[in-house]
Amino acid sequence: MRSLLWLAVVGLAVAEDGLAAWLRYARVPSASRHLGKLPSAVVTLNATKGYPVHTAGQELVDGIGGLFGKKLTVAKSKPKGTTATVGTVSAYVDKNPSAAKGLPDLVEDGFYLKISKGNVLILGQNERGALYGAFHYLSVIAQGNVSDFTLTSNPDAPVRWVNQWDNMQDGGTHGSVERGYGGDSIFFWDGHIREDLTRAGQYARLLASIGINAVVANNVNANASILTPENMDGLARIADVFRPYGVQLGVSLNFAAPQLLGGLDTFDPLDKTVVNWWQGIADNLYKRIPDMAGYLVKANSEGQPGPMTYNRTLADGANLFARTLRPHGGIILFRAFVYDHRSLNQTLDWKADRANAAVNYFDGLDDKFEDNVVIQIKYGPIDFQVREPVSPLFTHLRRTGATVELQITQEYLGQQAHVVYLAPMWKELLDFDLRVDSKPSTLKSIVSGKRFGQKLTGYAGVVNVGTNTTWLGSHLAMSNLYAYGKLAWDPEQTSTGILKEWTTLTFGHDKLVHDVITKISMESWPAYEDYSGNLGIQTLTDILLGHYGPNPGSQDGNPWGQWTRADDDTIGMDRTVWNGTGFAGQYPPEIAAMYENIETTPDNLLLWFHHVPYTQKLKSGKTVIQHFYDAHYKGSATAQTFVTLWEKLKGRIDKERYEHVLFRLIYQAGHSLVWRDSVNQFYFNKSGIPDELGRVGNHKYRIEAEEMELKGYKSYRVSPFEAASGYHCVVTETNSTVGTATTKLKVPSGKYDLAVNYYDMALGNSTWELFVDRKLVGKWKGDLEYELGRAPSPYIDGQTAARKTFRGVRVKKGSELKVVGRPDGLEPAPIDYISVLPEGTVD
Ligand code: GCU
Repeated sequence: MRSLLWLAVVGLAVAEDGLAAWLRYARVPSASRHLGKLPSAVVTLNATKGYPVHTAGQELVDGIGGLFGKKLTVAKSKPKGTTATVGTVSAYVDKNPSAAKGLPDLVEDGFYLKISKGNVLILGQNERGALYGAFHYLSVIAQGNVSDFTLTSNPDAPVRWVNQWDNMQDGGTHGSVERGYGGDSIFFWDGHIREDLTRAGQYARLLASIGINAVVANNVNANASILTPENMDGLARIADVFRPYGVQLGVSLNFAAPQLLGGLDTFDPLDKTVVNWWQGIADNLYKRIPDMAGYLVKANSEGQPGPMTYNRTLADGANLFARTLRPHGGIILFRAFVYDHRSLNQTLDWKADRANAAVNYFDGLDDKFEDNVVIQIKYGPIDFQVREPVSPLFTHLRRTGATVELQITQEYLGQQAHVVYLAPMWKELLDFDLRVDSKPSTLKSIVSGKRFGQKLTGYAGVVNVGTNTTWLGSHLAMSNLYAYGKLAWDPEQTSTGILKEWTTLTFGHDKLVHDVITKISMESWPAYEDYSGNLGIQTLTDILLGHYGPNPGSQDGNPWGQWTRADDDTIGMDRTVWNGTGFAGQYPPEIAAMYENIETTPDNLLLWFHHVPYTQKLKSGKTVIQHFYDAHYKGSATAQTFVTLWEKLKGRIDKERYEHVLFRLIYQAGHSLVWRDSVNQFYFNKSGIPDELGRVGNHKYRIEAEEMELKGYKSYRVSPFEAASGYHCVVTETNSTVGTATTKLKVPSGKYDLAVNYYDMALGNSTWELFVDRKLVGKWKGDLEYELGRAPSPYIDGQTAARKTFRGVRVKKGSELKVVGRPDGLEPAPIDYISVLPEGTVD
C-alpha cells in the first residue's frame, strides 16, 4: 500500500511536458497482472558502454521498471529465472553455435525477437538492430501485449535519415532553425556547437526508437564555418552523444566552402586544389568521427553555390564528395531540389515551370553518379505542398538510388499551430503507382530499392525539432515524427495503426482519448487541404513571407515559380504537353496520359495540371469556384469540431498537455476561419461569381471594427485586402494611445458567443479588453509569437490574424459592446471585427 501511495505521488510529480514523447514508460493498467510474464534479469552480450547493446540493456531495465514497476537486475552471464537476452546475432551464435540454424536472415539493422514464458531473446543484425529490437519489445508490452510471440523485422530501406535545418547562428533569416517551430537549435548556438548536448542525446534516443539511423544536424543552406577545426571537434561531440543510440551523424556542406573557408580562389569541383581540399575535410572529419554517415548537399538552388557555377554537371558536384567519402565508407545524399529562380518568368513565358526543373537537370545523369551517391528527392516537384503529384524524377533514376524527402516540420501545413496528421498524405504518395514500363512501380517500391534494384535508397525527413520541451512545439505534431520513422521502416503500416500505437505510448490506454485523437488526426489533413488550397492549386500561404497564413495573391508574379495563374476568368497551371509547360510528359506514358487529359486527371490535382475557367465542372458536378467556397466552409467547420472533441478529454489526460493542445486547437479553429474568408473573398473578388449559398462576403453576425464608434482608434486599410473582413481593421492612432471601439447591440437579449478577430504582430504585446455594459467579459494579450512558435510576422495580414472567443455571454438588446486596445511597442492593438453569435453558430 505504501509503495502504491509513493508511486501515485511520484506519478503526479512527473511533469508531462512532452520531453519523454512516446518513451514515457508510464505504468500500464493492471501492471501487476503481468509480472510473471516478464523477464527478471537482463543479459547483454558483448556490451560496451556507449554502444547500442549496452543502451538496449539500460532501456529494458528502465522500460520494464517504469511500465510494470519491476526492477530487473543486469547480469553478465545467464542468471537464474527468466531473462531478457540482448545482443547481435554473431555474439549470440558465438556463445550458442547450435542456435545458428534456427535464426532468420536479417538485413542491416534488422532484428529478431522471441518471447516465450517470460524469456526474451532480442537479436540484432548489428548493435543498432539489437537496440531497435529492445525498443520494439518495450513498445509492444507498453501497449499491454505481454504475451509470447516471435518476430523478424527488417527495414524496408537502408537510408532512414532525418535532416535538421539548424543554423549555426541565432537570428538567421528564419531564426536559428529554418522553418523550425519548436524553439532554438538543440545543436548550435552563436556559431558553435552547444556545450550542453543533453537534448541532442535525448533526440537520438527518440529517433533510435523509431528506427532512424542518421541525423544531418546543420541546415541544407549550410554555413561553411561548420568545417572549422573547432566546429569539427564540436561535431565529434554530437556524434558521441548519438553513438549510444546507433544514430550516425551527417553533415550538410556549402559547395563554396573551399573559397569561403579554405581561402582558395575557386570551388570548381574538377579543380585539383579543390578536390584535395575536400579530401582533407573528409579525412579530418573521419579522424574525429570514424562512424560518420556522410554528407548532405544542396547545390545550385535558391542562391546556393554548386557545380553549375563552373558549367560542371550536378554529377561532377556529387561525385567530388562521393570520392572523398569512399575510403571512409560514407555516402552522400545529393538533393534534387535544384532550380534557378532567377530564370523563371511567369508573364513572358507560358511554358515556364519550376516543376520541370528537377527532371531537366538530372536527366541523362543516372549512370554518371558514383555508387555512394543517393539522390534526395522531395515528394512533389514543387515544395512540400498540401497536395502534389509524386515527383516524376523517381522514374528517371534506375541505376542511382533515391531517397524520398518528406517534411515533418509543417512549413506549408500550419507550422504546428494547426494540427495536421501527415501519415495519410505520405501513405497516398508512397502507394502511388508510377507505372514505369507499364509495370507496378509504387513510390515505396522505388525507394526501397526493390523496383530497380539499387542498394542505397530510402527516406529523408526534415524534422527541425527545437529546445521546446514538446520538441516540435506541439504535442500532437509528434505523431508525425513517430509515423515518419515507422513508415521508413515499413511503409505497409497503416496511418491509423501507427496513430493507435503512438497514442497509447504518448497518452495511455483510455478509449475516449484514442477515439478523439484518431478522429481529429484522421480528419486533419483533409480539413487543412479544404481550408487552405484545394483541387491541387497549392497551399495558398503567403509565399513571400512566412509560408503560413493565407495570401492567394502572392502565388502569382512571385520570382519563386510557385504560381497559380489566376486571373478574372481562369485559374490553374497548364502543365500538359499539348498546350502547357510539358510537365505531364515527364511521367511514364500511362501516368502522363492520365494527367494530360482533363477527364482523367483526379479532381484533387485538377488545377495542378490544367488551366480552366472558374466555371469548369468537376467530376462531382460542382464548378471549380463553388467547390472552393464549399471546401473552405467545410474544412473550417471541421476545425471547429476539434475543440469540442478535445474538451471531452478534460480530466482524462494530464492538465499540462490537455491545456497546451486545447490552446492550439482553439487558435486553429479561429485561424481556419481567417483562411476560409481570405481565400473565398479573394477568388470571389477576382471571379465576380457569387457563392450559390450566399455565404461569401455576407457575415450577418459581424460588426466591423471600423464601423464602430472609435476613440483613439482609426480605420486602416489592410493589405492584402482579403486578410480583413470589409478590407479594413482599426489600429490605435499612435503607439501610446489607448483605443476604444464601441457599439450598441441590436440583437435580441440572450446568451451569445462573442468572437473578436484581431491581429497579433511580432512587434509587441498589445492587450485587449472586451466589455458588455461596462462589465469586463475578458482580456487577452498579443503574445502569440511566443506561444505558437509559427513564423513571426510584423504585418497586419493573414498570418497574424487571430480570433478570441468568449462563450455564453449574456447580452441585452441595446447593450453597449466595447473593446479597449492598448498598443505595445509597434503593435497598435489592431481589431478586425466582432461576431455576436447565437450560441453554437460559427462565423
Ligand atoms: C523551401 C524552404 C526553404 C528551404 C528549401 C529547401 O524553399 O522554404 O527554407 O531552404 O525549401 O528545401 O532547400
